[in-house]
Amino acid sequence: MESLKIIGGNKLEGTIQISGAKNAALPLMACGLLLDSGELNLSSMPDLADTKSMSLLLYSLGIEVKNRNNITTLLGEPKSHIAAYDIVRKMRASVLVLGPLLTRCGVAKVSLPGGCSIGTRPVDLHIKAFEQMGAKINLSNGYIEASAPKNGLYGAEIIFPNISVGATENTIMAASLAIGKTTIVNAAKEPEIIDLSNCLNSMGANIKGAGTNTITIEGVKTLHGCSHKVISDRIEAGSFAIAAAMTGGELELTDCNPSHLSSLSKYLINSGVNWQNDENSIKVSSNGDLKPISIKTEEYPGFPTDLQAQFMTLMCTANGESEISETIFENRFMHVPELARMGANISVNGGTAKVIGVERLNGARLMATDLRASISLVIAALSAKGESIISRIYHLDRGYEKLEKKLIKCGANIKRIKD
Ligand code: UD1
Repeated sequence: MESLKIIGGNKLEGTIQISGAKNAALPLMACGLLLDSGELNLSSMPDLADTKSMSLLLYSLGIEVKNRNNITTLLGEPKSHIAAYDIVRKMRASVLVLGPLLTRCGVAKVSLPGGCSIGTRPVDLHIKAFEQMGAKINLSNGYIEASAPKNGLYGAEIIFPNISVGATENTIMAASLAIGKTTIVNAAKEPEIIDLSNCLNSMGANIKGAGTNTITIEGVKTLHGCSHKVISDRIEAGSFAIAAAMTGGELELTDCNPSHLSSLSKYLINSGVNWQNDENSIKVSSNGDLKPISIKTEEYPGFPTDLQAQFMTLMCTANGESEISETIFENRFMHVPELARMGANISVNGGTAKVIGVERLNGARLMATDLRASISLVIAALSAKGESIISRIYHLDRGYEKLEKKLIKCGANIKRIKD
């Protein structure tokens, strides 16, 4: 197994080019299953373990996938409707093939993704939406077995009781080829939903309202290929912005969309961090002197749960007490015991963590537990005194393209080692 060895204390200084967004890329790839003709060319694709897993899954379903120079080309039509456990278990987002398979093939058998380290993460909202569109669904032997009516799924009014990014995406994809009109009420508003809808509209779909809480989709008969550029990764950009602030450095983040990070910038500025942006780049700098700021995670445009661990890490060396409340996932404080091993003063009560800032964190042996917890430990280690070894870094490879290369270019002392 590989680990990261980090010697902390260097300020991050320089320029980092932000990659395409993992969370946009995965549903966009699943659109390859909807093609009736032509190729789907996705540019700015991040080269990640998760996009590789999705390529493998699509390939196993009969889709041809070609990857070259951050462009992924998808073509062909599904020859199998079974998404097997061995691939699905590696990545929860595999469930995003359920809607496309069901609407395109009339049947789908997709392994239940199961729980993960940040919580139970059920898929009941996805299933209920497809049932409302006429699908019959059975759960048996760990698989979701779904079949559409003889003439295909039909449009429906789907009112989600809670906001779910994945269920909104799955429903949009299924409804694109359904008969008639689907309305999604209480839809997720994330930029990745807008990106998915823009791509599907370029493929011939008729989707309106993406980015608001009500989305309407008029089903069309077929979808064709198109070329689409994946939006930039707001979570990667936010993670590096926090790393710049915590190391007292100065980073310019290019090829990003600052408007997707307004909830983070607001809190960083209140904390004393310098933040300047134009349309597609951000300059972040700090002298390391930070005011404590309390945050609560919320659905977009609120503070993203995917930046909670990184922000908590930043607050570990702020001048005073802050509160970090997690409202999206029930078990997303896995980084707390690891940060405590570095000398952080954090106490957790239910979904809220109280952080009392300390002068500086100390290097330690650390264990990465999930994707965002892992990057928070990297940020902590970059600013800490002395050496840290972070094990189980395969989580990082799921979501951060060329992480060490990008950080080394900005002065970080970080090296991948074999355990
Ligand atoms: C997506 C993101 C993930 C991010 C999350 C929240 C991708 C590939 N992943 O995950 O990085 O942290 O949004 O912004 O885009 N829920 C149910 N039933 C369901 C579906 C979800 O109860 O059928 C619950 C979940 O357990 C969670 C909440 O709804 O508590 C939000 O989850 P959801 O928005 O669906 O997250 P994902 O799409 O899995």
